[in-house]
Amino acid sequence: MTTRVLFVCLGNICRSPLAEGVLRHLAAERGVAGALEVDSAGTSDYHTGEAPDPRMRATAARHGVELTSRARRIEVADFRRFDHILCMDDANHEALLARGAPPEKVRLLLTLVPERGVREVPDPYFGGVDGFETVYGLVHGACAALLDELADTPRDAPGAKRGTDRP
Ligand code: 4NP
Repeated sequence: MTTRVLFVCLGNICRSPLAEGVLRHLAAERGVAGALEVDSAGTSDYHTGEAPDPRMRATAARHGVELTSRARRIEVADFRRFDHILCMDDANHEALLARGAPPEKVRLLLTLVPERGVREVPDPYFGGVDGFETVYGLVHGACAALLDELADTPRDAPGAKRGTDRP
């Protein structure tokens, strides 16, 4: 049984491609990559078709994570396909709900790491290099916590949370 995870930000060139790459990387390290489908999308089409921002790719590469996605805008079909839709900030969250995403599938990514005391993954696009490292730390912690959560709630276990589109 595959669990499908979609990360969402505004441009799909910084935060959500990083989360996609980090989750894949951590899942491979834990030997669970085959049980996951991981993707990312943006609420805007500002950068459709582009590779992740070179500053984000450089930060990820320093941590041994390769980012290979191409930017795309969220589509209504994503709301059925994915089991977990994890967004970076309140504006993403509102945009997803406004387009009809099922509220029970959508969460702010950093709700996975409440101990960090940070609500939103800050948008690094217009800031300096430090912002990308901050984003990496937050996203890495949340992706590790997500894998812990998924390991605790196997899809076919009694009482496991299921997507609303499944029998
Ligand atoms: P992201 O960052 O949402 O993390 O991909 C941004 C990328 C581009 C823009 C804003 C945020 N932009 O305005 O073009």
